[in-house]
Amino acid sequence: PNIVKIWQQYWQVFLLEGVMNTLKLTAIAVLFGVILGTLVAMAKMCRFKVVRFIIGVYIEVIRGTPILLQLYIFYFVLPQLLPFLALSPFMWVALALCINSSAYVSEVIRAGIQAVDKGQTEAARSLGLSGRQTMTRIVLPQAVRNILPALGNEFIMMLKETSLASTFFLGDLMTSYLLVGGATYLRFEALIIVGVIYLCLTFPLSKVVAAFERRMARGTAD
Ligand code: ARG
Repeated sequence: PNIVKIWQQYWQVFLLEGVMNTLKLTAIAVLFGVILGTLVAMAKMCRFKVVRFIIGVYIEVIRGTPILLQLYIFYFVLPQLLPFLALSPFMWVALALCINSSAYVSEVIRAGIQAVDKGQTEAARSLGLSGRQTMTRIVLPQAVRNILPALGNEFIMMLKETSLASTFFLGDLMTSYLLVGGATYLRFEALIIVGVIYLCLTFPLSKVVAAFERRMARGTAD
């Protein structure tokens, strides 16, 4: 049948180009998204009101506008405003995904920290630990249980969001569909192939996240 035929003819486009670029975009987005998101979360919890306000605006703007709109801005507008940056279109889109992810990650981290029972902080402080010791030795080790599984979900989310890079034909897996579907007119078959590949990427990841959640829940009362 047709689906086998286009797989045999185009598997390299799907796997070597599509999957590779999708994983590349995802890795860049999540890695720098987590680094930037951690800094954003720290700034959001700092003691200066102005900083908290500015960071609040950053988070609201990014989470309150469609990621596709942000991609358009990074692809069409920013390269003109900042010509000296000279990034490739691929890197502009990767940067947009990082920025987008950072806003979501910062909330994951903040929520993870604030979900740790207040009594933990009170107990630590009354035992004489400093604010910093309380954070690094008592609160953060418990917050990690909430944060790590959520970051796994962020990875899965971003993997799927990278499909928007196909809007600019950047070679990700969804671009492979556009290429193969356009060349063969076998759009349905190409979509099925691409969909199955996305599932092959996300399904093991979601299993890993689920196992992680169980591991992290070990030893907690709730
Ligand atoms: N689909 C959402 C949108 O169109 C973006 C979600 C991004 N999610 C994330 N965890 N980075 O705005």
